[in-house]
Amino acid sequence: MASARPGTLYWAPEHTAKGRPMPVSDYLPRTLYTGHTVFITGGSSGINLGIARSFAELGAQLGICGRDGDKAERAAEELRATGAQVMAFSADVRDYEALELAMQQTREALGPIGTLVAGAAGNFPCPAEEMSANGFKVVVDIDLLGAFNAARAAFAQLKETRGSIIFISAGQAFQPYAMQAHVGAAKAGIDQLMKNLALEWGRYGIRCNSIAPGPIEGTEGVRRLVPEGAREELAQAIPLQRFGRPDDIGRVAAFLASPLAGYVTGCLLVADGGQNLLGSGIWTQLLMRHARKDG
Ligand code: COA
Repeated sequence: MASARPGTLYWAPEHTAKGRPMPVSDYLPRTLYTGHTVFITGGSSGINLGIARSFAELGAQLGICGRDGDKAERAAEELRATGAQVMAFSADVRDYEALELAMQQTREALGPIGTLVAGAAGNFPCPAEEMSANGFKVVVDIDLLGAFNAARAAFAQLKETRGSIIFISAGQAFQPYAMQAHVGAAKAGIDQLMKNLALEWGRYGIRCNSIAPGPIEGTEGVRRLVPEGAREELAQAIPLQRFGRPDDIGRVAAFLASPLAGYVTGCLLVADGGQNLLGSGIWTQLLMRHARKDG
């Protein structure tokens, strides 16, 4: 087999090895997003920070927001080291006004938003019969209402740029997982919202899609949901035999927001190494066995 070279479609073996991120600019032009403003909710850490890194590497300017302003600023500092212009905001996606203000300020400093990544999420494993109504509500509010708030607040700017929205969904949206009733309901709602907005906003040139990542190494989601002792067993069960990395999702986002996906809207792109093909049985059993309710 031909060896991998940057700029070809071959997949470098070192990039599939554990812990070795693949530079997205080996495969897409470094200037792909030059002059393009990307706003990312929950962009301070995890999958969303991985997405931010990919866009920064491809020339984008970024606004990121999170509930913890210091954490958002630290993430922005890291991203600025790549040469990207990055603004950090303390804004809770449940607070529409805060989000709207952050987006306005992003626009004033960097130009109108061309891509919105609605990624802010909350999660904790909890059996449905033990979950309080408020526990259920808080996750639906952060994930689903937060996704609507972000899309609605960005609408005018996206209309102006004929931009696109990427919602961060999850396998729980289409497969039931034990202890994830709140997350399943919220993420399924996000995907239906995505389709509704794709339907309504297509006439403005706004594309709306979701990405459903599988378990992504080093994230709060994996820390909370996957018992440490079970990680290797679970990784081996995944058809591609590894957990994902933030850069795996960053590349998918870079594709979906680009003209390469210019005719793609209303689509849920599952990027999980094939994990969903297993069903949720093995995960459910392990979660039940290792249930950790301390978050
Ligand atoms: N098990 C059961 N219930 C829980 C819980 C747990 N581990 N953690 C929180 N709750 C319940 C609380 O008891 C409360 O309900 P109550 O008022 O009936 O007691 C409700 O959820 C709200 O909790 P609170 O801590 O006040 O909410 P918050 O807005 O400060 O935090 C969370 C939101 C709960 C989602 C929190 O886990 C969080 O901030 N997560 C962000 C990071 C994250 O989850 N990342 C992973 C994304 S995949």
